[in-house]
Amino acid sequence: MSVKKILCVVGTRPEAIKMAPVILALKQQRWADVRVVATAQHRGMLDQVLAFFGIEPDIDLDVMRPNQALATLTGQLLLKLDVVLLEERPDAVLVQGDTTTVMACALACFYRRIPVGHIEAGLRTWDLQHPFPEEANRIITSKLVRWHFAPTQSARQNLLKEDVASADVFVTGNTVIDALLTTAASEVEIGLDLDPSKRLVLVTAHRREHFGAPFLGICRALRTLAENNPEVQFLYPVHPNPKIQDVAQACLAGMPNFRLCAPLGYAAFIAAMKAAYFILTDSGGVQEEAPALGKPVLVMRDETERPEAVEQGSVKLVGANYERIIEQAQRLLDDESAYRGMVRGVSPYGDGQAAGRIVKVLHEHFS
Ligand code: UD1
Ligand code: UDP
Repeated sequence: MSVKKILCVVGTRPEAIKMAPVILALKQQRWADVRVVATAQHRGMLDQVLAFFGIEPDIDLDVMRPNQALATLTGQLLLKLDVVLLEERPDAVLVQGDTTTVMACALACFYRRIPVGHIEAGLRTWDLQHPFPEEANRIITSKLVRWHFAPTQSARQNLLKEDVASADVFVTGNTVIDALLTTAASEVEIGLDLDPSKRLVLVTAHRREHFGAPFLGICRALRTLAENNPEVQFLYPVHPNPKIQDVAQACLAGMPNFRLCAPLGYAAFIAAMKAAYFILTDSGGVQEEAPALGKPVLVMRDETERPEAVEQGSVKLVGANYERIIEQAQRLLDDESAYRGMVRGVSPYGDGQAAGRIVKVLHEHFS
């Protein structure tokens, strides 16, 4: 079998975390010439993750601009990715997730008739506005790609409902569990001076559909929770988006038991999840990781494309809703049996072997 050129394209922090196990596994293959393209839709957060996994991009498109608008970002990505595809002429391209990088890359490859493998395919809420714009990104991507690497059986069923051929869908597990298990296996440290005698509530929030009033509601709920529970410490590594940073700083800075910090490195964030009593988040990846670490998660959204952990009982949806966030978080702090009822320790999203399965599908295709 001749050597095949595989382009792995990543734009944001979660894409890099979830693509890293695949890049590292492909690099072990003699038949694969792996080329890593960083669109740099994220800058600092992407660089942080790639450096952590020891991955140096071969090509960097450097598209991030402060407060970037989606149309400008999409236009830049299409133009710049097309130049890369013409120069590199890959045999296949891999993308991961539902960001604008993923959607634009799938479209650019479609126009050049280059086959694409979509990692984490088939997640759906069936509501185009939630999450925005990710639900649209993943639907468009699924229409354009050759291989659909679904993390779970229910993701596979979603694709079949949309008339994707069953032979093109491969249930692999989610590569986030590969990344998590290999990283969590070594000694990880938060690197912040937290008080080990106090319970820790870990927070993340960044979704576009929450910009404005919903995010203000989230911050007000966090503030009330911190004020009502002075013996509990809160840690919130804040996403660098100015629409998040400005509100979070204005609403939450200065409280003695509420720590705002810059995004944590991946290992430090895993250490923070391990140290947490529970997690409040609107993140996709955190919903997948926390159950594997035995941590209850309150998701500050009304819907999720990741229903498995809700069904398992380790994740509960509380909306971006002031009263529900306070009520459910307080319940976890006060009610030991409610808390124990949400502790699992097994992930419904994967067994840590997803990257190997993806590599095998590609190998079988090319041989
Ligand atoms: C993006 C994805 C979202 C994903 C999230 C993961 C889209 C439309 N959104 O959202 O699906 O869940 O990443 O975090 O694809 N910024 C920095 N430094 C960084 C990264 C971002 O300063 O390292 C700031 C910039 O001002 C940038 C802004 O954040 O313009 C927004 O970044 P963008 O990638 O458009 O959206 P996210 O909200 O990060
Ligand atoms: N994460 C991290 N540092 C942080 C917060 C999160 O490394 O300070 C990791 C987290 O472990 C998960 C991923 O980032 O793997 C989730 O990214 P994000 O919430 O930005 O995006 P989403 O998953 O919602 O697309």
